[in-house]
Amino acid sequence: MQSDDSTTPTDLSDSTDPAAIDDPTDTDANRVALAFSGGLDTTVCVPLLEEEYGYEEVIGVTVDVGQPDAEFEEARETARALGLEHYVVDATDAFADVCLDGVRANAAYQGYPLGTALARPVIAAAIQEVAEENDCGALAHGCTGKGNDQLRFETVWRQSDLEVCAPVRELGLTRQFEQAYAAERDLPVEGGNEGDWSIDTNLWSRAVEGNELEEPSYVPPEGIYDWTAAPGESDPETLTIDFEEGYPVAIDGEAMDPVELISRLNERAGAQGVGRTDVMEDRMLGLKVRENYEHPAATVLLGAHGALEDLVLTKEERSFKTTIDQRWAEKAYEGLLSAPLVNALEGFIAETQSRVTGTVTIKLTGGQARPVGRESPYGVYSASAASFNTETVGDITQGDATGVAKYHGFQERLANTVIESASEAEDPLEAATDGGANSESEDDAIESDQAETTNEDR
Ligand code: ARG
Repeated sequence: MQSDDSTTPTDLSDSTDPAAIDDPTDTDANRVALAFSGGLDTTVCVPLLEEEYGYEEVIGVTVDVGQPDAEFEEARETARALGLEHYVVDATDAFADVCLDGVRANAAYQGYPLGTALARPVIAAAIQEVAEENDCGALAHGCTGKGNDQLRFETVWRQSDLEVCAPVRELGLTRQFEQAYAAERDLPVEGGNEGDWSIDTNLWSRAVEGNELEEPSYVPPEGIYDWTAAPGESDPETLTIDFEEGYPVAIDGEAMDPVELISRLNERAGAQGVGRTDVMEDRMLGLKVRENYEHPAATVLLGAHGALEDLVLTKEERSFKTTIDQRWAEKAYEGLLSAPLVNALEGFIAETQSRVTGTVTIKLTGGQARPVGRESPYGVYSASAASFNTETVGDITQGDATGVAKYHGFQERLANTVIESASEAEDPLEAATDGGANSESEDDAIESDQAETTNEDR
Protein backbone atom coordinates (compact mmCIF):
# COMPACT_ATOMS: atom_id res chain seq x y z
CA MET A 1 0.00 0.00 0.00
CA GLN A 2 2.94 2.29 0.66
CA SER A 3 5.04 3.51 -2.22
CA ASP A 4 8.68 2.33 -2.29
CA ASP A 5 10.42 5.29 -0.80
CA SER A 6 7.72 6.29 1.68
CA THR A 7 7.80 5.85 5.41
CA THR A 8 6.27 2.79 7.06
CA PRO A 9 2.69 3.29 8.20
CA THR A 10 3.55 3.97 11.80
CA ASP A 11 6.50 6.22 11.15
CA LEU A 12 5.04 9.69 11.36
CA SER A 13 8.36 11.48 11.70
CA ASP A 14 8.25 12.91 8.17
CA SER A 15 4.67 14.04 8.17
CA THR A 16 4.49 15.44 11.66
CA ASP A 17 4.83 19.12 12.20
CA PRO A 18 5.46 19.28 15.96
CA ALA A 19 4.62 22.97 16.06
CA ALA A 20 1.14 22.18 14.80
CA ILE A 21 0.37 19.92 17.73
CA ASP A 22 -0.94 21.42 20.93
CA ASP A 23 1.06 20.18 23.91
CA PRO A 24 -1.33 18.21 26.18
CA THR A 25 0.87 18.91 29.21
CA ASP A 26 -0.34 22.51 28.99
CA THR A 27 -3.85 21.47 29.89
CA ASP A 28 -5.52 20.73 33.22
CA ALA A 29 -6.46 17.17 32.45
CA ASN A 30 -4.64 14.70 30.27
CA ARG A 31 -7.88 13.58 28.73
CA VAL A 32 -9.28 14.42 25.30
CA ALA A 33 -12.83 14.22 23.89
CA LEU A 34 -12.91 13.06 20.28
CA ALA A 35 -15.78 13.59 17.81
CA PHE A 36 -16.26 9.92 17.03
CA SER A 37 -18.20 8.27 14.20
CA GLY A 38 -16.50 4.88 14.13
CA GLY A 39 -15.27 5.53 10.58
CA LEU A 40 -11.64 5.21 9.49
CA ASP A 41 -10.58 8.81 10.24
CA THR A 42 -11.89 8.96 13.78
CA THR A 43 -10.86 5.38 14.58
CA VAL A 44 -7.19 5.98 13.77
CA CYS A 45 -7.37 9.17 15.84
CA VAL A 46 -7.81 7.13 19.03
CA PRO A 47 -4.32 5.54 19.16
CA LEU A 48 -2.77 8.62 17.56
CA LEU A 49 -4.06 10.90 20.32
CA GLU A 50 -2.42 8.63 22.86
CA GLU A 51 0.81 7.86 21.07
CA GLU A 52 1.55 10.98 19.09
CA TYR A 53 -0.10 13.56 21.31
CA GLY A 54 0.52 11.88 24.65
CA TYR A 55 -3.02 11.92 26.01
CA GLU A 56 -3.64 9.31 28.68
CA GLU A 57 -7.30 8.93 28.00
CA VAL A 58 -9.51 9.41 24.95
CA ILE A 59 -13.30 9.76 25.21
CA GLY A 60 -15.39 9.21 22.06
CA VAL A 61 -18.52 11.31 21.56
CA THR A 62 -21.13 10.65 18.88
CA VAL A 63 -23.85 13.26 18.51
CA ASP A 64 -27.28 12.32 17.20
CA VAL A 65 -28.53 14.85 14.65
CA GLY A 66 -30.82 12.37 12.93
CA GLN A 67 -28.40 9.91 11.34
CA PRO A 68 -29.68 6.41 10.56
CA ASP A 69 -29.54 3.93 13.46
CA ALA A 70 -26.87 1.88 11.69
CA GLU A 71 -24.39 4.71 12.19
CA PHE A 72 -24.79 4.58 15.96
CA GLU A 73 -24.42 0.81 15.86
CA GLU A 74 -21.18 1.20 13.95
CA ALA A 75 -19.89 3.81 16.39
CA ARG A 76 -20.83 1.71 19.43
CA GLU A 77 -19.30 -1.46 18.04
CA THR A 78 -16.07 0.21 17.03
CA ALA A 79 -15.81 1.96 20.39
CA ARG A 80 -16.31 -1.37 22.16
CA ALA A 81 -13.64 -3.05 20.04
CA LEU A 82 -11.24 -0.18 20.76
CA GLY A 83 -12.04 -0.20 24.48
CA LEU A 84 -13.00 3.44 24.08
CA GLU A 85 -15.17 5.20 26.64
CA HIS A 86 -18.06 6.29 24.42
CA TYR A 87 -20.97 8.71 24.77
CA VAL A 88 -23.94 9.18 22.44
CA VAL A 89 -25.64 12.54 22.88
CA ASP A 90 -29.06 13.37 21.42
CA ALA A 91 -29.08 16.84 19.84
CA THR A 92 -31.85 16.17 17.33
CA ASP A 93 -34.27 18.73 18.75
CA ALA A 94 -31.64 21.46 18.91
CA PHE A 95 -30.62 20.65 15.35
CA ALA A 96 -34.20 20.68 14.03
CA ASP A 97 -34.66 24.14 15.56
CA VAL A 98 -31.64 25.44 13.65
CA CYS A 99 -32.97 23.91 10.42
CA LEU A 100 -36.23 25.78 10.88
CA ASP A 101 -34.32 29.02 11.52
CA GLY A 102 -32.88 28.26 8.11
CA VAL A 103 -36.39 28.05 6.66
CA ARG A 104 -37.14 31.57 7.95
CA ALA A 105 -34.00 32.71 6.15
CA ASN A 106 -34.87 30.73 2.95
CA ALA A 107 -31.40 29.33 3.49
CA ALA A 108 -29.56 27.61 0.71
CA TYR A 109 -25.91 27.89 -0.29
CA GLN A 110 -25.47 27.36 -4.04
CA GLY A 111 -28.70 25.35 -4.01
CA TYR A 112 -27.74 23.24 -0.99
CA PRO A 113 -29.99 23.69 2.05
CA LEU A 114 -27.00 23.38 4.41
CA GLY A 115 -27.70 20.13 6.30
CA THR A 116 -24.08 19.30 7.13
CA ALA A 117 -23.17 22.93 7.70
CA LEU A 118 -26.02 23.58 10.14
CA ALA A 119 -25.30 20.36 12.03
CA ARG A 120 -21.59 20.89 12.73
CA PRO A 121 -21.82 23.71 15.29
CA VAL A 122 -24.59 21.79 17.10
CA ILE A 123 -22.37 18.69 17.18
CA ALA A 124 -19.33 20.71 18.27
CA ALA A 125 -21.24 22.31 21.15
CA ALA A 126 -22.59 18.95 22.33
CA ILE A 127 -19.10 17.40 22.31
CA GLN A 128 -17.69 20.34 24.21
CA GLU A 129 -20.36 19.87 26.86
CA VAL A 130 -19.39 16.22 27.34
CA ALA A 131 -15.71 17.22 27.44
CA GLU A 132 -16.34 19.78 30.15
CA GLU A 133 -18.48 17.40 32.20
CA ASN A 134 -15.68 14.83 32.01
CA ASP A 135 -12.85 17.19 32.87
CA CYS A 136 -11.19 16.93 29.51
CA GLY A 137 -8.40 19.34 28.66
CA ALA A 138 -8.82 19.01 24.92
CA LEU A 139 -11.14 18.41 22.00
CA ALA A 140 -10.32 16.50 18.81
CA HIS A 141 -11.85 15.80 15.42
CA GLY A 142 -10.88 13.56 12.52
CA CYS A 143 -11.39 16.06 9.70
CA THR A 144 -8.86 16.46 6.94
CA GLY A 145 -7.28 19.79 6.06
CA LYS A 146 -9.28 20.07 2.84
CA GLY A 147 -12.88 20.30 3.93
CA ASN A 148 -15.23 22.73 5.62
CA ASP A 149 -15.96 20.74 8.75
CA GLN A 150 -12.59 21.36 10.45
CA LEU A 151 -13.39 25.08 10.35
CA ARG A 152 -16.95 24.64 11.58
CA PHE A 153 -15.87 22.52 14.55
CA GLU A 154 -12.93 24.64 15.53
CA THR A 155 -14.63 27.98 15.37
CA VAL A 156 -16.90 26.71 18.16
CA TRP A 157 -14.18 25.00 20.16
CA ARG A 158 -11.63 27.79 19.94
CA GLN A 159 -14.06 30.01 21.83
CA SER A 160 -13.41 27.72 24.85
CA ASP A 161 -10.29 27.27 26.97
CA LEU A 162 -9.81 23.71 25.74
CA GLU A 163 -6.98 22.62 23.44
CA VAL A 164 -7.97 21.64 19.93
CA CYS A 165 -6.40 18.66 18.13
CA ALA A 166 -6.86 17.69 14.50
CA PRO A 167 -4.64 14.59 14.10
CA VAL A 168 -5.46 13.78 10.46
CA ARG A 169 -4.64 17.31 9.37
CA GLU A 170 -1.81 18.00 11.79
CA LEU A 171 -0.01 14.72 11.11
CA GLY A 172 -0.60 15.09 7.36
CA LEU A 173 -2.29 11.70 7.04
CA THR A 174 -3.55 10.32 3.74
CA ARG A 175 -6.36 7.82 3.46
CA GLN A 176 -3.83 5.26 2.25
CA PHE A 177 -1.69 5.81 5.30
CA GLU A 178 -4.70 5.48 7.60
CA GLN A 179 -5.69 2.18 6.02
CA ALA A 180 -2.17 0.77 6.40
CA TYR A 181 -1.94 2.10 9.96
CA ALA A 182 -5.31 0.52 10.86
CA ALA A 183 -4.35 -2.80 9.28
CA GLU A 184 -1.01 -2.91 11.06
CA ARG A 185 -2.63 -2.25 14.44
CA ASP A 186 -5.61 -4.43 13.76
CA LEU A 187 -8.01 -1.54 14.34
CA PRO A 188 -11.70 -2.38 13.83
CA VAL A 189 -12.41 -0.56 10.56
CA GLU A 190 -13.55 -3.36 8.20
CA GLY A 191 -17.30 -3.52 8.68
CA GLY A 192 -17.77 0.23 8.46
CA ASN A 193 -19.38 2.67 6.14
CA GLU A 194 -16.44 2.59 3.70
CA GLY A 195 -18.59 1.92 0.63
CA ASP A 196 -18.25 3.55 -2.76
CA TRP A 197 -19.20 7.02 -1.63
CA SER A 198 -18.53 9.31 1.28
CA ILE A 199 -21.91 10.03 2.84
CA ASP A 200 -23.03 12.45 5.52
CA THR A 201 -26.60 12.06 6.72
CA ASN A 202 -28.67 14.02 9.20
CA LEU A 203 -32.28 15.07 9.65
CA TRP A 204 -32.06 17.86 7.07
CA SER A 205 -30.03 16.33 4.25
CA ARG A 206 -28.06 13.41 2.92
CA ALA A 207 -24.81 14.38 1.17
CA VAL A 208 -22.96 12.03 -1.17
CA GLU A 209 -19.50 12.66 -2.59
CA GLY A 210 -16.25 10.96 -3.56
CA ASN A 211 -14.80 8.56 -6.13
CA GLU A 212 -16.36 8.92 -9.60
CA LEU A 213 -18.86 11.44 -8.25
CA GLU A 214 -16.03 13.93 -7.90
CA GLU A 215 -15.77 14.08 -11.69
CA PRO A 216 -18.17 16.88 -12.69
CA SER A 217 -19.19 15.15 -15.93
CA TYR A 218 -19.98 11.80 -14.30
CA VAL A 219 -23.73 11.18 -14.29
CA PRO A 220 -24.73 9.86 -10.84
CA PRO A 221 -26.22 6.39 -10.90
CA GLU A 222 -29.67 5.94 -9.33
CA GLY A 223 -27.95 3.90 -6.59
CA ILE A 224 -26.49 6.97 -4.85
CA TYR A 225 -29.97 7.95 -3.71
CA ASP A 226 -31.49 6.56 -0.57
CA TRP A 227 -34.11 9.09 0.56
CA THR A 228 -35.70 9.79 -2.82
CA ALA A 229 -37.48 7.52 -5.25
CA ALA A 230 -36.92 8.10 -8.96
CA PRO A 231 -39.07 11.17 -9.77
CA GLY A 232 -42.31 10.58 -11.62
CA GLU A 233 -42.93 7.05 -10.41
CA SER A 234 -45.75 7.84 -7.96
CA ASP A 235 -49.08 9.57 -8.48
CA PRO A 236 -48.95 13.27 -7.61
CA GLU A 237 -50.23 14.30 -4.19
CA THR A 238 -51.13 17.53 -2.48
CA LEU A 239 -50.46 18.63 1.09
CA THR A 240 -50.71 21.78 3.16
CA ILE A 241 -48.14 23.33 5.49
CA ASP A 242 -49.21 25.76 8.22
CA PHE A 243 -46.72 28.44 9.25
CA GLU A 244 -46.60 30.59 12.36
CA GLU A 245 -44.22 33.53 12.23
CA GLY A 246 -42.19 31.83 9.53
CA TYR A 247 -41.93 28.48 11.34
CA PRO A 248 -43.72 25.46 9.89
CA VAL A 249 -45.97 23.99 12.57
CA ALA A 250 -48.39 21.55 10.92
CA ILE A 251 -48.84 19.24 7.93
CA ASP A 252 -52.39 18.91 6.59
CA GLY A 253 -53.63 20.68 9.71
CA GLU A 254 -51.93 18.22 12.08
CA ALA A 255 -49.63 20.06 14.49
CA MET A 256 -46.27 18.42 15.19
CA ASP A 257 -42.86 19.21 16.64
CA PRO A 258 -39.98 20.14 14.32
CA VAL A 259 -38.27 16.71 14.31
CA GLU A 260 -41.48 14.90 13.48
CA LEU A 261 -42.52 17.45 10.89
CA ILE A 262 -39.19 17.24 9.06
CA SER A 263 -39.09 13.41 9.26
CA ARG A 264 -42.60 13.04 7.87
CA LEU A 265 -41.93 15.40 5.00
CA ASN A 266 -38.68 13.59 4.18
CA GLU A 267 -40.68 10.41 3.78
CA ARG A 268 -43.66 11.82 1.96
CA ALA A 269 -41.82 14.08 -0.45
CA GLY A 270 -38.93 11.60 -0.76
CA ALA A 271 -41.38 9.01 -2.10
CA GLN A 272 -42.18 11.54 -4.85
CA GLY A 273 -38.52 12.03 -5.76
CA VAL A 274 -38.50 15.59 -4.39
CA GLY A 275 -35.26 17.23 -3.24
CA ARG A 276 -32.30 16.06 -5.29
CA THR A 277 -29.55 18.55 -6.06
CA ASP A 278 -26.23 18.18 -7.79
CA VAL A 279 -23.97 21.07 -6.86
CA MET A 280 -20.55 22.33 -7.94
CA GLU A 281 -19.85 23.64 -4.51
CA ASP A 282 -17.34 26.36 -3.70
CA ARG A 283 -15.83 25.28 -0.42
CA MET A 284 -14.50 27.70 2.11
CA LEU A 285 -10.86 27.05 1.23
CA GLY A 286 -11.53 27.75 -2.44
CA LEU A 287 -11.82 24.19 -3.74
CA LYS A 288 -14.73 23.45 -6.05
CA VAL A 289 -16.16 20.08 -5.07
CA ARG A 290 -19.06 18.28 -6.72
CA GLU A 291 -21.63 17.18 -4.16
CA ASN A 292 -24.97 15.41 -4.53
CA TYR A 293 -27.71 15.96 -2.01
CA GLU A 294 -31.12 14.65 -1.04
CA HIS A 295 -33.33 16.90 1.10
CA PRO A 296 -37.05 16.33 0.44
CA ALA A 297 -38.36 18.10 3.56
CA ALA A 298 -36.09 21.09 3.05
CA THR A 299 -37.28 21.49 -0.54
CA VAL A 300 -40.93 21.41 0.50
CA LEU A 301 -40.50 23.76 3.44
CA LEU A 302 -38.29 26.28 1.66
CA GLY A 303 -40.69 26.33 -1.31
CA ALA A 304 -43.74 26.72 0.90
CA HIS A 305 -42.16 29.38 3.09
CA GLY A 306 -41.05 31.39 0.06
CA ALA A 307 -44.56 31.23 -1.38
CA LEU A 308 -46.03 32.60 1.85
CA GLU A 309 -43.48 35.41 2.00
CA ASP A 310 -44.40 36.30 -1.59
CA LEU A 311 -47.94 36.90 -0.37
CA VAL A 312 -47.32 38.81 2.87
CA LEU A 313 -44.16 40.84 2.35
CA THR A 314 -44.01 44.07 0.38
CA LYS A 315 -41.98 44.20 -2.81
CA GLU A 316 -39.18 46.08 -1.06
CA GLU A 317 -39.10 43.72 1.92
CA ARG A 318 -38.88 40.77 -0.45
CA SER A 319 -36.04 42.17 -2.49
CA PHE A 320 -34.06 43.37 0.54
CA LYS A 321 -34.62 40.08 2.32
CA THR A 322 -32.97 38.13 -0.51
CA THR A 323 -29.74 39.94 0.36
CA ILE A 324 -30.20 39.27 4.08
CA ASP A 325 -31.06 35.62 3.41
CA GLN A 326 -28.03 35.10 1.22
CA ARG A 327 -25.70 36.46 3.89
CA TRP A 328 -27.37 34.25 6.50
CA ALA A 329 -26.81 31.20 4.29
CA GLU A 330 -23.17 32.12 3.69
CA LYS A 331 -22.51 32.52 7.40
CA ALA A 332 -24.31 29.22 8.04
CA TYR A 333 -22.12 27.52 5.42
CA GLU A 334 -19.06 28.92 7.19
CA GLY A 335 -20.32 27.63 10.54
CA LEU A 336 -20.45 31.22 11.77
CA LEU A 337 -24.06 31.67 12.85
CA SER A 338 -22.64 32.96 16.12
CA ALA A 339 -21.27 36.05 14.34
CA PRO A 340 -22.63 39.42 15.53
CA LEU A 341 -23.61 40.09 11.91
CA VAL A 342 -25.98 37.11 12.06
CA ASN A 343 -27.71 38.56 15.12
CA ALA A 344 -28.35 41.70 13.16
CA LEU A 345 -29.58 39.74 10.13
CA GLU A 346 -31.88 37.76 12.39
CA GLY A 347 -33.29 40.99 13.78
CA PHE A 348 -34.47 41.86 10.28
CA ILE A 349 -35.65 38.32 9.64
CA ALA A 350 -37.67 38.22 12.88
CA GLU A 351 -39.29 41.56 12.07
CA THR A 352 -40.48 40.29 8.68
CA GLN A 353 -41.50 36.87 9.95
CA SER A 354 -44.01 38.28 12.43
CA ARG A 355 -46.43 38.32 9.47
CA VAL A 356 -45.39 35.05 7.82
CA THR A 357 -48.35 33.17 9.22
CA GLY A 358 -50.73 31.19 7.06
CA THR A 359 -51.14 28.06 4.98
CA VAL A 360 -49.52 26.95 1.75
CA THR A 361 -50.74 24.14 -0.48
CA ILE A 362 -47.99 22.15 -2.15
CA LYS A 363 -48.33 19.71 -5.01
CA LEU A 364 -45.71 16.96 -5.09
CA THR A 365 -45.25 15.81 -8.63
CA GLY A 366 -42.44 14.68 -10.93
CA GLY A 367 -39.74 15.33 -8.35
CA GLN A 368 -40.99 18.87 -7.75
CA ALA A 369 -42.73 20.48 -4.78
CA ARG A 370 -44.85 23.20 -6.39
CA PRO A 371 -46.70 25.78 -4.30
CA VAL A 372 -50.21 25.80 -5.79
CA GLY A 373 -52.09 27.87 -3.19
CA ARG A 374 -51.36 30.25 -0.29
CA GLU A 375 -53.43 32.17 2.27
CA SER A 376 -52.67 34.44 5.21
CA PRO A 377 -54.45 37.00 7.36
CA TYR A 378 -51.49 39.28 6.50
CA GLY A 379 -51.68 38.86 2.72
CA VAL A 380 -50.84 42.15 1.00
CA TYR A 381 -53.57 41.42 -1.49
CA SER A 382 -56.89 43.03 -2.29
CA ALA A 383 -59.23 41.13 -4.57
CA SER A 384 -61.01 44.31 -5.66
CA ALA A 385 -57.76 46.21 -6.25
CA ALA A 386 -56.34 43.49 -8.48
CA SER A 387 -59.61 42.77 -10.30
CA PHE A 388 -60.32 43.97 -13.85
CA ASN A 389 -64.01 44.22 -12.99
CA THR A 390 -63.92 47.13 -10.53
CA GLU A 391 -63.20 50.72 -11.50
CA THR A 392 -61.81 52.05 -8.21
CA VAL A 393 -59.22 51.08 -5.60
CA GLY A 394 -60.48 52.81 -2.46
CA ASP A 395 -60.96 56.39 -3.61
CA ILE A 396 -58.47 56.06 -6.46
CA THR A 397 -60.05 55.83 -9.92
CA GLN A 398 -58.64 54.15 -12.99
CA GLY A 399 -58.14 57.56 -14.62
CA ASP A 400 -55.71 58.57 -11.86
CA ALA A 401 -53.18 56.28 -13.48
CA THR A 402 -52.94 58.57 -16.53
CA GLY A 403 -50.62 61.02 -14.78
CA VAL A 404 -48.54 58.15 -13.45
CA ALA A 405 -48.30 56.69 -16.95
CA LYS A 406 -47.08 60.00 -18.35
CA TYR A 407 -44.35 60.37 -15.77
CA HIS A 408 -43.35 56.72 -15.82
CA GLY A 409 -40.08 56.33 -17.72
CA PHE A 410 -39.72 60.11 -18.12
CA GLN A 411 -36.06 60.08 -17.18
CA GLU A 412 -35.32 57.21 -19.54
CA ARG A 413 -37.09 58.97 -22.42
CA LEU A 414 -35.10 62.12 -21.75
CA ALA A 415 -31.83 60.17 -21.56
CA ASN A 416 -32.58 58.38 -24.83
CA THR A 417 -33.31 61.69 -26.54
CA VAL A 418 -29.98 63.10 -25.38
CA ILE A 419 -28.11 59.97 -26.48
CA GLU A 420 -29.80 60.06 -29.88
CA SER A 421 -29.06 63.72 -30.53
CA ALA A 422 -25.46 63.27 -29.39
CA SER A 423 -24.96 60.41 -31.81
CA GLU A 424 -26.48 62.42 -34.67
CA ALA A 425 -24.42 65.55 -33.96
CA GLU A 426 -21.11 66.01 -35.78
CA ASP A 427 -19.31 66.81 -32.57
CA PRO A 428 -20.95 64.67 -29.86
CA LEU A 429 -19.15 66.51 -27.07
CA GLU A 430 -20.55 69.82 -28.26
CA ALA A 431 -23.98 68.32 -28.57
CA ALA A 432 -23.77 67.01 -25.02
CA THR A 433 -22.37 70.17 -23.42
CA ASP A 434 -24.47 72.68 -25.41
CA GLY A 435 -27.51 70.67 -24.67
CA GLY A 436 -27.72 69.74 -28.37
CA ALA A 437 -30.22 70.79 -30.96
CA ASN A 438 -33.00 68.73 -29.50
CA SER A 439 -32.68 69.73 -25.91
CA GLU A 440 -34.82 72.81 -26.30
CA SER A 441 -37.60 70.91 -27.93
CA GLU A 442 -37.41 68.26 -25.17
CA ASP A 443 -37.81 71.05 -22.61
CA ASP A 444 -40.89 72.19 -24.51
CA ALA A 445 -42.17 68.68 -24.51
CA ILE A 446 -41.80 68.47 -20.75
CA GLU A 447 -43.64 71.72 -20.27
CA SER A 448 -46.53 70.72 -22.48
CA ASP A 449 -46.62 67.28 -20.81
CA GLN A 450 -47.03 68.95 -17.45
CA ALA A 451 -49.65 71.36 -18.73
CA GLU A 452 -51.65 68.53 -20.18
CA THR A 453 -51.49 66.55 -16.94
CA THR A 454 -52.69 69.54 -14.97
CA ASN A 455 -55.57 70.17 -17.31
CA GLU A 456 -56.70 66.60 -17.25
CA ASP A 457 -56.52 66.41 -13.49
CA ARG A 458 -58.90 69.32 -13.27
N1 ARG B 1 -20.02 19.83 1.20
C1 ARG B 1 -21.01 19.88 2.23
C2 ARG B 1 -20.64 20.86 3.29
O1 ARG B 1 -19.52 21.20 3.43
C3 ARG B 1 -21.36 18.53 2.79
C4 ARG B 1 -20.24 17.63 3.10
C5 ARG B 1 -20.78 16.29 3.42
N2 ARG B 1 -19.79 15.27 3.59
C6 ARG B 1 -19.78 14.12 2.88
N3 ARG B 1 -18.94 13.21 3.23
N4 ARG B 1 -20.58 13.92 1.89
O2 ARG B 1 -21.50 21.31 4.00
